[in-house]
Amino acid sequence: MAGIPPSLLSALLAGMPQSTPRKPGSVNIPQAATPPMPSGGANGTAASSPPIASHMCEQCHSRPKYHDGTKTHPYCGKNCAAAARNQTAASGTCIVCHSRPKFFDGTRTHPYCSKSCANKFSTAEGTSPNTAGMCQIPGCNKPAYKGPTGQPGKYCSIAHKRLAETACLWCRSAPKQGDRHFCGTACANDAAKKAVVVLEVPEGHVTFNNVAGQFKTSWRHNTRCPTVKHIYKIVGQQSSIDQYEAYKNAVESRGQFVSAGRSAGNERRRWHGTKRECTLGDNGNTQFCSSATCSLCCIIKTSFDISCFAKKTGWGRFGAGIYTSSTSSKSNDYSQNAGINSSLKAVLLNKVIVGKGYKMTNDNSTLKAPPAGYDSVLGEKGGSLNHDELIVYNNDAIRPSFLVMYEAK
Ligand SMILES: *[C@@H]1O[C@H](CO)[C@@H](O)[C@H](O)[C@H]1NC(C)=O
Ligand SMILES: *[C@@H]1O[C@H](CO)[C@@H](O)[C@H](O)[C@H]1NC(C)=O
Ligand SMILES: *[C@@H]1O[C@H](CO)[C@@H](O)[C@H](O)[C@H]1NC(C)=O
Ligand SMILES: *[C@@H]1O[C@H](CO)[C@@H](O)[C@H](O)[C@H]1NC(C)=O
Ligand SMILES: [Zn+2]
Ligand SMILES: [Zn+2]
Ligand SMILES: [Zn+2]
Repeated sequence: MAGIPPSLLSALLAGMPQSTPRKPGSVNIPQAATPPMPSGGANGTAASSPPIASHMCEQCHSRPKYHDGTKTHPYCGKNCAAAARNQTAASGTCIVCHSRPKFFDGTRTHPYCSKSCANKFSTAEGTSPNTAGMCQIPGCNKPAYKGPTGQPGKYCSIAHKRLAETACLWCRSAPKQGDRHFCGTACANDAAKKAVVVLEVPEGHVTFNNVAGQFKTSWRHNTRCPTVKHIYKIVGQQSSIDQYEAYKNAVESRGQFVSAGRSAGNERRRWHGTKRECTLGDNGNTQFCSSATCSLCCIIKTSFDISCFAKKTGWGRFGAGIYTSSTSSKSNDYSQNAGINSSLKAVLLNKVIVGKGYKMTNDNSTLKAPPAGYDSVLGEKGGSLNHDELIVYNNDAIRPSFLVMYEAK
């Protein structure tokens, strides 16, 4: 710390977190119902404002940052750097700024990194301790509307309830534009910069209801449909989106589906169940694992790859393609938690270019492409199949769109 002029030092100290510094090894249990959180943004207005300037370690807040002679590191040493990594890996990043780790107060992990991010957003379930009884719209600060029983609701007004139902998935404080997920190009660009990223869709949001609704209506097995607990929008890399769009345009110009009243390229939303080796999706965890055999993370990070497919199952009823279904309960049969303890299971809802589908009822495991003149294979119910399948043979004919987490039984 030698060399820092006193005036600069006091300026740096003024930017310190509001919370009591956490000492390594000590647990700081808050007295108040509202646990202290560090103040993340400079004044709490910019969702992606950089972390506060401080000369203290960002993990323990009690020792100075390590300076190696050339640059200053965010942490005091290897231990704090490792602990910070662990924390992020275990819980993921703040659901508002998507860049800083979630705040751990010594007892529990909050969905936000800081007070300023928490004030900007609170979940539809109203779990934010800062805003109990207050309108859940970031920055509103009005008391929530009280029903006839005196129980506070979640919003101050119908207008704000409506806003929550259509909120931009990035800033969550402005309505999204039409069928898009964001309020405008600023938020869309911020999300794209973080791609590949998964963004939690709050319960009660129109997009949540839409995806959960498809899960429910397409549960066709004669078993109870499990409750959907979390839904995440998958934001892919622009280059990957471009490849998909180019493929879609090529299929559309061959088949002219729009003029026949269908979607461009005859695009559909289809389910895919696979193996998950980590807790991605559990309790708001948006952090991918690095395992090469965690199929869920691999598919989300790099989309589908036919060459992996043949390796994984060794045999496909309709050959070497990418298999999806319109039936959520069929994809549930392929969803598998491997070596993890979770009360939830995962399936992916994908955008698939069906184009002209060739209907088949009998297996043909030697297929490497759809029959000439077709873009996909539709495995029809009957013959050897109890439920429908849709198979595409081109990596660019499919992109994962939503991660859906539901009760494991
Ligand atoms: C808060 O941040 C906004 C946007 O970055 C800026 O325009 C404003 O001047 C800041 N206010 C204060 C008090 O720092
Ligand atoms: C980080 O996690 C690993 C594996 O769970 C553990 O062995 C290690 O002690 C942790 N490090 C810190 C500093 O918490
Ligand atoms: C999963 O959790 C249960 C109950 O907490 C425990 O009995 C079991 O050993 C755990 N299994 C694994 C693989 O960690
Ligand atoms: C299976 O597909 C291959 C490749 O298109 C074709 O040559 C063969 O005749 C098909 N077999 C059956 C039984 O339809
Ligand atoms: Zn309000
Ligand atoms: Zn926005
Ligand atoms: Zn994983």
